[in-house]
Amino acid sequence: EKGNYRHFMQKEIFEQPTVVAQTLGSYLRQADNSVALPQFDFDISTIRRVTIVACGTSYYAGLVAKYWFEQFARVPVDIDVASEFRYREPVLEDGGLALFISQSGETADTLAALRHCKEAGQTIAVVVNVPTSSMAREADLLLPTHAGPEIGVASTKAFTCQLAVLAALAAHMAVKKGLMNREEESEVVAHLLEAPASLNAALDHDEDIAAMAHLIAPARDVLYLGRGPDYPLALEGALKLKEISYIHAEGYAAGEMKHGPIALIDDQVPVVVLAPSGPLFEKTVSNMEEVRARGGQVVLISDAEGLAEAGEGCIATIEMPKVHPLIAPLVYAIPVQLLAYHVACVKGTDVDQPRNLAKSVTVE
Ligand code: F6R
Repeated sequence: EKGNYRHFMQKEIFEQPTVVAQTLGSYLRQADNSVALPQFDFDISTIRRVTIVACGTSYYAGLVAKYWFEQFARVPVDIDVASEFRYREPVLEDGGLALFISQSGETADTLAALRHCKEAGQTIAVVVNVPTSSMAREADLLLPTHAGPEIGVASTKAFTCQLAVLAALAAHMAVKKGLMNREEESEVVAHLLEAPASLNAALDHDEDIAAMAHLIAPARDVLYLGRGPDYPLALEGALKLKEISYIHAEGYAAGEMKHGPIALIDDQVPVVVLAPSGPLFEKTVSNMEEVRARGGQVVLISDAEGLAEAGEGCIATIEMPKVHPLIAPLVYAIPVQLLAYHVACVKGTDVDQPRNLAKSVTVE
């Protein structure tokens, strides 16, 4: 079933252009570049607050979506991991949409949070990859991802498909609220439809990433930095590395470094910086310079323009295609997944079945 691939994780990373295209295809109409969601029987323009709940990688997809809901639909977003959400006393006012994101649709804490929100009278939306799952059955608005079965324990293709659905949902809400006109909608849709080709272009750098994995493999700790919608990708990159290579890694908002974590920096700590060129580039690069000034070993992930401007003095660079900021979180998922994958291969760990982890966490 793995075909020419060594691992399911590797196969699933490479499936992303196809499955993201499939997923986008079911939420976007190419004929007129518009968003087309499945039928549902509530008025999304009246939603006053979105509460996002998920775990792990699915939670990071939610963190990216928060930027999009705020930017496009101007709706306040509350987001939490399910195990925390359940045991605080969240304020769930009338007119709220509770949005659950899950590959399996069976994660115990997320499912319990869903039932709690249902009882509290929230409208329930679910982004899920297993259409027959418990969460799918309990949704008012079911938004399937079309990633196909994900076998590798570390989530990869489910994540980028979740991002595709969430971007479409945020745009749909903006349209319904009258905050996105036809022209803007068609631009957003056109950018989203560029994602599969850009994912392919990102995958072209697989061999470069494999060739530099030995620089990361000996590290005891690795930091990942990003800003804005790419900050959750730093969290995701760190999670992937922890899960399959067992190297301690942390993701930070680039601007938060100077508030503490910069004390960790020395020449033994690789720092992976995610910095697509765009409105946040200069800020992220200045945080990167602070790291470098303290001996930090920077791996810069950016496009050709960004690398030309800031790549000098890095221990390695990873080139990405130049993309619109909207799709950067999807495209930059590829290098962080591949980096974790190749580092794990160098270390010889069990990539598809990492120790202590289960594919579906049905215990609380
Ligand atoms: C990360 C990973 C986990 C899951 C988390 C949620 O690679 O696989 O962090 O993302 O357990 O699982 P789902 O999405 O099935 O609810």
